[in-house]
Amino acid sequence: MKKVIITGGNSGIGYQAAKQLAEKHCQVTLFCRNEERAKNACETIIRETGNPHVTSFLADLSDMDSARQAAAAYIKEQENLDILINNAADFDLSVKKPVLTKDGLEKQFATNVVAPFILSQNFMSLLKESDSGRILNISSQGLQAYPFIQLDFDNLQGEKYYSPSKTYYQNKLSLLMLSLYMRKQVKDVKIQAIRVPSVKVDIKRYSNLSYFMKKLYQLKSYFSISPDKMAKTYVTLATEDGYKGFLYTEKCQEVKANRFAYDANAQNRLYQLLGHITSPEANRKN
Ligand SMILES: NC(=O)c1ccc[n+]([C@@H]2O[C@H](COP(=O)([O-])OP(=O)(O)OC[C@H]3O[C@@H](n4cnc5c(N)ncnc54)[C@H](OP(=O)(O)O)[C@@H]3O)[C@@H](O)[C@H]2O)c1
Repeated sequence: MKKVIITGGNSGIGYQAAKQLAEKHCQVTLFCRNEERAKNACETIIRETGNPHVTSFLADLSDMDSARQAAAAYIKEQENLDILINNAADFDLSVKKPVLTKDGLEKQFATNVVAPFILSQNFMSLLKESDSGRILNISSQGLQAYPFIQLDFDNLQGEKYYSPSKTYYQNKLSLLMLSLYMRKQVKDVKIQAIRVPSVKVDIKRYSNLSYFMKKLYQLKSYFSISPDKMAKTYVTLATEDGYKGFLYTEKCQEVKANRFAYDANAQNRLYQLLGHITSPEANRKN
């Protein structure tokens, strides 16, 4: 029985992926920030799949301690892990200025980049011990609209100016770069990424949005695939062999990432920066 952790497995694509993995007899652990939503998701998946091995750990991924504590609690309880899916993401278009976490980080950057880094580091030794250790990082097809995007190291956390969508695409580029860097460093764990296209979202989850933005989301849904369909790609890459490349579309076709993602110096700089941000010395200063 493969053991899988999926972050943000209580809704959208993450929920459908958790359910499909449970159908495939995996042991599935959701990392979620809300106890009730996590419990509801686990109960529904167990009821609908008949697989009792679906549990959750509480983890607010915008909070470094919470991410670390959830990882430590899982390791203590489970002792092994085959697949980590960094799916959760913070993307709230109603936010107009940077929101700082208790660690002093901008919240989207903390959730979308720092947390996948922390979880990957914390679970690396378990994944190395697995005979099919994998990390799947979730990116966005929207990056295709910015073919010349570069990582702006001076504005990673909205220091100069802030827009939730620009920050999100910087986060998703960062995640691709982090994945590519780690692929070079770690040989016995398969590290891959998925490029998610427009996927239907539950508009009830976006209560902060203006009437106009809600209408835009409704319009977007006509051109979107279902979370269930998208989740099939997660499951294929998580459980099947034969996919040796880096970045895959919803049709499991290998594609190139944005050109800047392959910049080795920038990857190294980002990796060092994340190492510094998450180091005990940096945390003591906060
Ligand atoms: N939908 C699209 O069109 C689209 C397009 C490109 C890429 N993607 C990517 O696909 C992935 C899944 O997106 P989705 O459409 O399924 O979105 P979703 O339904 O909004 O799910 C996002 C999940 O992330 C969780 N999350 C957010 N912040 C968190 C935090 N601080 N700690 C723990 N969990 C947190 C949410 O938990 P709560 O329920 O507690 O909020 C939720 O479970 C994301 O990486 C997203 O960037 C989606």
